[in-house]
Amino acid sequence: MKTRRLLFSVLLLAVWCSAESNAVNAVTANPYRSNTGVLNRAGFPDGFTFGTAASAYQVEGMALKDGRGPSIWDVFVHVPGNIANNATADRAVDEYHRYKGDINIMKKMNFDAYRFSISWSRIFPDGTGKVNWKGVAYYNRLINYMIRRGITPYANLYHYDLPATLEKKYMGLLSHRVVKDYADYADFCFKTFGDRVKHWMTFNEPRVVAALGYDEGSFAPARCTNCSAGGNSATEPYIVAHNLILSHAAAVKRYREKYQATQKGRIGILLDFVWYEPLSNSTDDQAAAQRARDFHIGWFLHPVIYGEYPKSLQEIVNERLPKFTPNEVQMVKGSIDFVGINQYTAYYMYDPHVPKQAKSTSYALDWRVGFAFDRNGVPIGPQANSKWLYIVPWGMYKAVTYVKENYGNPTIILSENGMDDPGNITMPAGLHDTTRLNYYKSYISELKKAIDDGANVIAYFAWSLLDNFEWKSGYTSRFGLVYVDFKSLKRHPKMSAYWFRHMLERKKKN
Ligand SMILES: *[C@@H]1O[C@H](CO)[C@@H](O)[C@H](O)[C@H]1NC(C)=O
Ligand SMILES: *[C@@H]1O[C@H](CO)[C@@H](O)[C@H](O)[C@H]1NC(C)=O
Ligand SMILES: *[C@@H]1O[C@H](CO)[C@@H](O)[C@H](O)[C@H]1NC(C)=O
Ligand SMILES: *[C@@H]1O[C@H](CO)[C@@H](O)[C@H](O)[C@H]1NC(C)=O
Repeated sequence: MKTRRLLFSVLLLAVWCSAESNAVNAVTANPYRSNTGVLNRAGFPDGFTFGTAASAYQVEGMALKDGRGPSIWDVFVHVPGNIANNATADRAVDEYHRYKGDINIMKKMNFDAYRFSISWSRIFPDGTGKVNWKGVAYYNRLINYMIRRGITPYANLYHYDLPATLEKKYMGLLSHRVVKDYADYADFCFKTFGDRVKHWMTFNEPRVVAALGYDEGSFAPARCTNCSAGGNSATEPYIVAHNLILSHAAAVKRYREKYQATQKGRIGILLDFVWYEPLSNSTDDQAAAQRARDFHIGWFLHPVIYGEYPKSLQEIVNERLPKFTPNEVQMVKGSIDFVGINQYTAYYMYDPHVPKQAKSTSYALDWRVGFAFDRNGVPIGPQANSKWLYIVPWGMYKAVTYVKENYGNPTIILSENGMDDPGNITMPAGLHDTTRLNYYKSYISELKKAIDDGANVIAYFAWSLLDNFEWKSGYTSRFGLVYVDFKSLKRHPKMSAYWFRHMLERKKKN
């Protein structure tokens, strides 16, 4: 995943409040932790799945080979200055050829599943029409090898990578035409791979697609109010989000009507969620934190659970917010069998008391919030290599519990979690990744606490197995459990990988 930027660099950090440490952090009684002090499989519900996650563009390579058409990211990456060191994902970490070795590593580390993504333009080079059978063959090889090694495939259909042809043809996600084209692509995948794939995800982080692609303009297709590609930060993010939700719902409808009864799989969507903690107990700060949650996860989760946008968005965005027709409400509401939550970090939120503007100019400003990263001079957590990634384990508990409590305790897959080191870390230092190991230990403990308190979480995916192509950061950020030498592409498991191996051992029952 990840190169998420703070949305509101314009707003100053405030460090003025009174309160102190988090009551949240107070350890509630936890039999597993107090008995053994360690995490293991036995502490999780029966059938709980552990895996790692990745996306096609970040790992596959062969970006413009074997018949694959370009996506909007291929176009974006090849503009000098867009990616750190002008790196590309043309080769990435070459999973296209090395998938067997990678799956063998997953097996060795005792993982149960792999959350991969399918590149739309590898299947349909132009987004619609002609099928690239070499691409189909690749995913068949990948899926078949996973199954042979006992690694369960979790297939995500879209991870930022719209076919470039559709961007040219009708401005991609800005056009309602994308809904049918996406549903046709999804339908093809269900038909082709659904005999073996029983866990489908329609979109990864649609919020990031809409906000970074159309408000900030920092991600493909790089549109925003002042972007050279054109755009309108006040309206386009909402139009794109709307089309993403409708595309998701249309694909789910196809799956349910044509495939689910026979294939017996399930389908959901993957949403990123930062935990937003009020900086103080003031009513204003609590309301600011709630607005942030609404504009972040509520933007997508509210429609798919309740059939409408959160009230706060309806009020603030008002006439700029597209509306669902009654038929669309029918299709959107209830359109998930599970929700995936990508959880990395947490921030303090406050009300900056900005005067209500006559006319809002962007999605980010619509939030009307301020971000803070410490309270009374105490940082919310240490920072990873990525500036946006503060290490805040208790945010995991709060984020998962929030979804449980506000959205009817849906089935949750914790679909991403992890932290990065700098790209130029030496290999010995990279392999000795105690910070990552402790990150996983503490976040997974907090996840377990949320499960023990009733959250319906059925799976957990670490981001990521391998160091890989980290979007705008290129190869300057390493999220892997396995160190990749970006020259030779050799894989070297880090300490954290061996920690998972030990944690996930299956003990014989007596
Ligand atoms: C908020 O109020 C609770 C309960 O009185 C207290 O425990 C907590 O420290 C307060 N937090 C802040 C940020 O003031
Ligand atoms: C990226 O490419 C541009 C254009 O060729 C060049 O000006 C710039 O210095 C390059 N950046 C790096 C970090 O190599
Ligand atoms: C666009 O640029 C103008 C002029 O620099 C600036 O006043 C305005 O705030 C910018 N708008 C956005 C949404 O960034
Ligand atoms: C990595 O790069 C950063 C920024 O250029 C530099 O400050 C740091 O010393 C480098 N670290 C190593 C281990 O080379």
